[in-house]
Amino acid sequence: ALLLFIVVFILTADYIKNRRLTGFPPGPPALPIVGNIFTLDHKRTHESMTELAGRYGDVYSMRMGQRWVVVLNGFEAVTQALVTQGDSFSDRPSIPLYDDIFHGLGVILSNGHMWKQQRRFALSTLKYFGFGKKSLEPMILEEFTYVAKEISAYKGKPFNPHLIVNNTVANIICLLVFGHRFEYGDEQFKKMMKLFEQSIQIQVSVLAELYNAFPQLMRCLPGPHQKFKRINEELKDFVRTEVKDHKQKWDPSDLRDFIDYYLNEIQMSKGQDDSTFDEECLIMSVLDLFGAGSETTSTTLRWAFLFMVKYPEIQERVQAEIDSVIGQSRPPSVDDRADLPYTDAVIHEIQRMGNIVPLNLPHVTNRDVHLRGYTIPKGVTIIPNLTSVLFDKREWKTPFTFNPGHFLNEEGKFVKPAAFIPFSAGKRLCLGENLARMELFLFFTSFMQHFTFSMPPGVKPVLDYRFGITLSPVHYEICAKPRHE
Ligand code: HEM
Repeated sequence: ALLLFIVVFILTADYIKNRRLTGFPPGPPALPIVGNIFTLDHKRTHESMTELAGRYGDVYSMRMGQRWVVVLNGFEAVTQALVTQGDSFSDRPSIPLYDDIFHGLGVILSNGHMWKQQRRFALSTLKYFGFGKKSLEPMILEEFTYVAKEISAYKGKPFNPHLIVNNTVANIICLLVFGHRFEYGDEQFKKMMKLFEQSIQIQVSVLAELYNAFPQLMRCLPGPHQKFKRINEELKDFVRTEVKDHKQKWDPSDLRDFIDYYLNEIQMSKGQDDSTFDEECLIMSVLDLFGAGSETTSTTLRWAFLFMVKYPEIQERVQAEIDSVIGQSRPPSVDDRADLPYTDAVIHEIQRMGNIVPLNLPHVTNRDVHLRGYTIPKGVTIIPNLTSVLFDKREWKTPFTFNPGHFLNEEGKFVKPAAFIPFSAGKRLCLGENLARMELFLFFTSFMQHFTFSMPPGVKPVLDYRFGITLSPVHYEICAKPRHE
């Protein structure tokens, strides 16, 4: 009888605490305690979430364990929240798995004054090092020569591009942040890349989801959080070594990279009460740039190869355009973009269909808000579903077909529809958008200038994905035939 009483008590308390209040967005019925954790197909969460909008509307709610989540769908609802009402929707929620290890430092996970200072600093420093003093263009083009050599060594035989492309893209962040690149075979580099990969795998595991839904309970059990902590401590140590080295060689009259510049900021802001610049925050900002700036661009390039082998006629047309505008004797330059509308359209369509950050990063309401007739209290997690925007039937002519025509007008000129928001929108807009766009353009045109991609004989291209924070193609092998000696 006691047990029955406890069960009835828990269920009643859960019902009273978690019922949808009047004016709150509707959504699928939730189970007691666990809520809607099992409503979604976790292998394709982004598609399940988009489908639910068909039943409950563009703004609907779900409960993940004890946490309410509002999912925003379609271009109108997402931009109304993130842009028009951006002040209310720009904070990040607390995520137990991260909070315990990163303590809300850096750019991606921080809020308020810390976020403003760190974001402004990172943006202006990337701009200074990337586009100002040391131009990014030669860095990217030089890195291409290394990856081209690596790929040429396969002599058109099948290889898995995953690690090679990851290393290439990670090296651009290394150049900006550490001031140097790594050889692809370097043991330290290989270890760092492996740690990042493991860290991502844990973040997308079901155990991590359970940890975030029931942190008090899960903290007491052995689980993914201990391993996650260990991996991230190792990553922090890696950055700490670089910081130590930079401090020894630091010369305020010659700031070489992001770390030097940050050390300078720590010095300059000493004595200011509201300064958030210190070494722990530096380490987190560096990890943020790696975490957000490596996997994303490299996954997009891996989708690019797959789309080109799936649609060889599009690959040929891109190559023809590059041959006629740039030729074979000089590398591409960002200034060529305006003369390569078809290639530019293809890159944008790869980003749209690749949809690599399918559910965006989570946001949270920082006050009670009214959105599209609903009332959403302060502290509710918001998922601005980018899948529902990049495939929004109201915005795209053929949403589910690879169609570079989405980005070309009748005269064949490049146009960018407003619903193209793979980098999100509003105050939290991706901080690396300019860098990513430059990398994608220069790497993609260089690859197309030098290689023709095809599947290994007898293998058909498969566009299957693995769902995670990023949506990545399942591992595949590809052949890259050099186009000229
Ligand atoms: C945030 C997409 C490359 C740094 C984001 C967000 C998205 C995104 C969707 C979340 C925005 C939001 O919360 O509303 C992408 C895509 C990329 C890419 C599709 C490549 C194709 C990069 C690169 C860097 C970078 C190269 C850095 C060098 C960041 C940072 C944030 C962020 C620091 C957090 C911004 C904040 O919280 O204020 N990105 N990103 N990203 N991205 Fe990117």
